[in-house]
Amino acid sequence: MNKKFTVETPNERETINTGERLGRILRKGDIVCLYGNLGAGKTTFVKGIARGLGIEEREITSASFVIIAEHYGRIPLFHIDLYRVSGGDDVPDLGIEEYLDGEGVAVVEWAERLTGWDCSFRVDIKFPDDVRREITISGSKERIEDLE
Ligand SMILES: Nc1ncnc2c1ncn2[C@@H]1O[C@H](COP(=O)(O)OP(=O)(O)OP(=O)(O)O)[C@@H](O)[C@H]1O
Ligand SMILES: [Mg+2]
Repeated sequence: MNKKFTVETPNERETINTGERLGRILRKGDIVCLYGNLGAGKTTFVKGIARGLGIEEREITSASFVIIAEHYGRIPLFHIDLYRVSGGDDVPDLGIEEYLDGEGVAVVEWAERLTGWDCSFRVDIKFPDDVRREITISGSKERIEDLE
């Protein structure tokens, strides 16, 4: 995590486009950790990641009663939402280990509730107002350079 870049998106569409840029360079085994308050745009960003992996963005929903949803594109996308998980729950108890250490890309909303795993990319979403979002993507120098 020694390099980062920040973009400000003026609308939902541009957040999806930014997610798509990241989705295009993801590889099997990557873990993308998403941070941001309720309504920040994490799921919206995942729609873009999906598009970058060749998955229809409308397949991505924020059904927070589902912890994990699988989608199949260029490589599989495992969309994990830990909103309903408390920080003390262990990953093995959640049954998501095989997705984190798996045959595809794991994208984790509320990643602060995930302990003991290294993120390939960290995405922080802040909201200066109702329509704009400040998105910071952090990762290793080489991987972030792939994005630029
Ligand atoms: N620039 C923007 N980028 C992304 N979303 C935006 C933007 N401007 C407004 N929005 C709105 O903000 C909301 C973001 O919702 P989204 O479900 O993606 O957030 P979330 O971080 O996943 O929330 P949760 O914590 O509930 O999972 C949507 O209603 C979207 O239309
Ligand atoms: Mg969400």
